[in-house]
Amino acid sequence: MPALFSRRVPDPAHRNPLARAVSRRRRLGAPILDLTLANPTQVGLVSHPGVLAALTDPAGATYAPDPCGDAGARVALARDLARRRPAKLKPRPQDLVLAASTSEAYSWLFKLLCDPGDEILVPAPGYPLFAHLAALEGVIAVTYPLALQDRWRLDLEDVAVRVTSRTRAVVVVSPHNPTGWTLSNGEAAALMKLAAARNLVVISDEVFADFQFTGHRDWCSLPEQAAGKPAPCLALAGRGGRRVSLGGLSKEAGLPQMKVGWLLLGGEARWRREALARLELIADTYLSLATPQQKALPAWLRGARPYRRELRRRLTENRRVLARALSRKNRGELLSSAGGWSAVIRLPMVRDDQEDALALLREEGVLVHPGYYYDFTGGTFLVLSLLPRPGDFAEGVARLAAYLDRRPQGGGKF
Ligand SMILES: Cc1ncc(COP(=O)(O)O)c(C=O)c1O
Repeated sequence: MPALFSRRVPDPAHRNPLARAVSRRRRLGAPILDLTLANPTQVGLVSHPGVLAALTDPAGATYAPDPCGDAGARVALARDLARRRPAKLKPRPQDLVLAASTSEAYSWLFKLLCDPGDEILVPAPGYPLFAHLAALEGVIAVTYPLALQDRWRLDLEDVAVRVTSRTRAVVVVSPHNPTGWTLSNGEAAALMKLAAARNLVVISDEVFADFQFTGHRDWCSLPEQAAGKPAPCLALAGRGGRRVSLGGLSKEAGLPQMKVGWLLLGGEARWRREALARLELIADTYLSLATPQQKALPAWLRGARPYRRELRRRLTENRRVLARALSRKNRGELLSSAGGWSAVIRLPMVRDDQEDALALLREEGVLVHPGYYYDFTGGTFLVLSLLPRPGDFAEGVARLAAYLDRRPQGGGKF
């Protein structure tokens, strides 16, 4: 019998053991200290007071959609990005396309660039959303490795060998979720060279670009970042090639509920012109952003600065607490990171990461993500969010430390 449903959609009945254990605890009313919490609206951060009032602009009552986004909203966004991403080039409003999230912007790019069965290259470890986003477009997400040496590194040879006649684009995430790896200027130039030679588009996901640990010598994975220089915005870093940078309010303004993301086209003028004309057709098919949302965007962008300031402080402070706890012998290694909202711990390989995550939940009521969620291989890795309230985070880390003190260490070998 032919299948009823498309293979692009995974079977929702399939749930992993940790998700089942969490549901069971919740059903029983047992508390969970959630160190995976990454929702900025649920961790007690400042929210600017006018956030809902901005939706009442009377201009929002008239429907006159521009598929690529309201003109005024794009001008405000271009100005805001020029301030936040100082670069050789200035963002132009006409190179911006608004979407209802960064995830939607990805799906539009996959529609733009790929036929069913085409391939895009994505990093592993990496954020699990890519495989789903690609699959829903009938596209194959092929992983290339970020390798853990003294720090996370991208070897472009590892990317080059995975390019086939069906590869259309390479995705980099900078700062990367969850490792905190970031693209250096040198890597960006080399990647653009490879892309030009193999006819690829480079998509740079920069949703965490405002959250880089510049100046933290002992955390940063790039020497230039340790010296205070942030990772480049790829779309604005050069005039050549085919580049796209992605961003969105969910991380950059702490407003995931407002559903605004964007893509910024960069590189050769002809590529930008041709891509934009096609993106306009794709966006016109959905017109997915509400008018009040787009009219509110300038105010939301203006109001986001205190949130970013506070969150940067929080990420740094929580990371310090974690680093201090793990500095005790045999508690595991906090991996270096140049930015983002996550911290990755490597443990001696006496258990796999799912066993550790399950044991930590059972014994201490603390929830972390096992590394396999993000495609980590070759070790036991746990991933924590740095967003939780400082008190919750410190308590969770203290319980994690207690767990690690009991955990067999297998001679401390990773
Ligand atoms: C690297 C990365 N890109 C994109 C997204 C999705 O962002 P949005 O909420 O705008 O779809 C996330 C969400 O966690 C992310 O981690």
